[in-house]
Amino acid sequence: MKNVPIIVLDFGSQYTQLIARKLRESGVYCEIVPYNEKIEDIKAKEPKGIILSGGPASVYAKDAYHPDSGIFELNIPLLGICYGMQLITQHFGGVVVPSDHHEYGKSELEFVDECECKIFENSPNGQIVWMSHGDKVDMLPDSFMRIARSANSPYAGIADIDRDIYAFQFHPEVYHSEHGTTLLKNFAKYICRVESTWNMGSFAKEQISKIKESVGDKKVLCGVSGGVDSSVVATLLNEAIGDKLVSIFVDNGLLRAGEREQVEAMFKRLGIDLITVDAGGEFLIKLKGITDPEQKRKIIGETFIEIFDKEAKKQENIEFLAQGTLYTDVIESVSVKGPSKTIKSHHNVGGLPEWMTFELIEPLREIFKDEVRKLGLELGLPKDMIGRHPFPGPGLAIRIMGEVTQNELRLLRESDTIMQEELKASGYYDKVWQAFTVVLNVKSVGVMGDNRTYDNTVCVRMVESVDGMTATFAHMPHEILERISGRIINEVDGINRVVYDITSKPPGTIEWE
Ligand code: XMP
Repeated sequence: MKNVPIIVLDFGSQYTQLIARKLRESGVYCEIVPYNEKIEDIKAKEPKGIILSGGPASVYAKDAYHPDSGIFELNIPLLGICYGMQLITQHFGGVVVPSDHHEYGKSELEFVDECECKIFENSPNGQIVWMSHGDKVDMLPDSFMRIARSANSPYAGIADIDRDIYAFQFHPEVYHSEHGTTLLKNFAKYICRVESTWNMGSFAKEQISKIKESVGDKKVLCGVSGGVDSSVVATLLNEAIGDKLVSIFVDNGLLRAGEREQVEAMFKRLGIDLITVDAGGEFLIKLKGITDPEQKRKIIGETFIEIFDKEAKKQENIEFLAQGTLYTDVIESVSVKGPSKTIKSHHNVGGLPEWMTFELIEPLREIFKDEVRKLGLELGLPKDMIGRHPFPGPGLAIRIMGEVTQNELRLLRESDTIMQEELKASGYYDKVWQAFTVVLNVKSVGVMGDNRTYDNTVCVRMVESVDGMTATFAHMPHEILERISGRIINEVDGINRVVYDITSKPPGTIEWE
C-alpha cells in the first residue's frame, strides 16, 4: 500500500473535498477517509499528519460522529477544523458549548501576541477567515493555548504546540478564507514536515497504475461524450490498458448540431478507437410524454446503461464501466465517503440503475473541473479540446422545459449554434465558463413584419465559474446579447422572444433541470 502523507477524516462537511484540493494545490498528496476509519487502516498508510474535517453535527449530540480514538495516540500532528476542533477539545478534556451567536461568514483573525506559530507563517495578522459554526470552545484542555481569536470566537485558533496538535474554528479550505491555502500548506510543511512534491503528473501516474491494478486482464467499456471529462478518462485508460479499452459514443439524439462528427474526429486525433452507437430513436421513444426533470435523468441514465450492457455482451471479458464523474457531480448526489448531506440526485451518479452489473471506474471522482483541465494538459490533450464548455450527460433533454420533441430539439440546436457562433466570433467563448440556450416552452405574442406571432421563447444562459460548484451569470456586453437575440429570432423559425438568465448558483443551478 502507498504511503499517504496526510489523511483527512471526513465528518460530513460540504467542504471536506476542498481541504484535499487546497493541499493538492500546495503539492501535497492526501486521501479522504470516512470519519470512523479503523486505526489499523490509518496506520497502514503511514501518515505524517491527520486533518479532522468540519461536519454538520454537534459533538455533544447523542449520535455525534467520533473517530477511532487511536488517532490521538499515534503521536503525529493533528489539525482540527470546526467540528474537528471541537472533537479535539472534547477529547483532551476541554469544554464545547452552543454559541450565543451563530457565526456564519467573514471574520477578522487576530493572532495572540505571544504566539509565533509556524502554522501562521507567511500569512498576516488580521486576515479574513470564513466562519460557519453554531458551537464553540468554552474552556481549553490543559495543555492547549489560544493562538488566535476573532470578534465572536475567543478561541478561533488553539494549539498544543509540544504535541503538534492545532485546531481552527474557521474553515481555511474555503475560497473566502484569504490565506487558507497557506495555513494548510504550513500545517503540511512545518508541522507534518511533508515536502511539496505532488502534481497533476503524479496524479496521472497514480491513476494509471490504479487502473492497471484493478483491471488486470479484463476489459473496460468507457462511455465517451466528447467532453473534457470523458476524453481525459479515455486517455488515462488508453495509457493504462491500451487495447483492453473499448470506447463507446452513444448518439442519443440529444446532441448539439454537428456534435457527433466533432467527437468522432476528436477521437481519431487522439488515436483512440471509437464505436458509435446510433440510439436516438430509442431515447426519444422512452422520453415521450415525460416532463419531470428527475424522471428524464433516470430514463436517460438507465438507457445509457442498457446500451452499454448490450455492447459489452458483443465482446468478451468486459467487466468495468469507466465514466468521467467529477466531484461536483458526486457531492450534490450522494455522500462521497463520509456522511455529508444529499443536496439533489443528479448527473451520471444519480441516474444509474440498480441492476447494473459493471464495476465502476471513476478516476476523476475526487477532483474538480479546473483540475481535470490541468490533468488533460498534462496528458497532452489539445488546447481546444480542454477549453470546451461542459456539456451534461443527459444532453439537450435537460435544456428543454417539458417534453422532448423533435421540434423542440430543432429549436434548441438552431439557437445554440447561433449563440456559439457569436460567442466564438466575439472572443467570449473562452471568457465564459459555460454558455447554452434553453427552450422554455413559454409562448408569447410578438409582431414580425405586419404579422402577429405567437411563438416559443429561448433563454440564453452564460455563466462564470471556477469549478461548477458556484457560478455567477456572465456580465456580457449588451451588443453581443443583442446580436444573438436578433439572429435567433430572425433565423430560427418558431422563436419570437429571447431572454437572458440573470440567476447565480446558488440559489439557482447552472442547468435548468
Ligand atoms: P448544475 O446544473 O448542477 O451543473 O449547476 C453543474 C455543472 O454540471 C453539469 N451537469 C452535468 N454533467 N451529467 C454531467 O456530466 C449531468 O447529468 C449533469 N448535470 C449538470 C452542468 O452542465 C454544469 O457544468
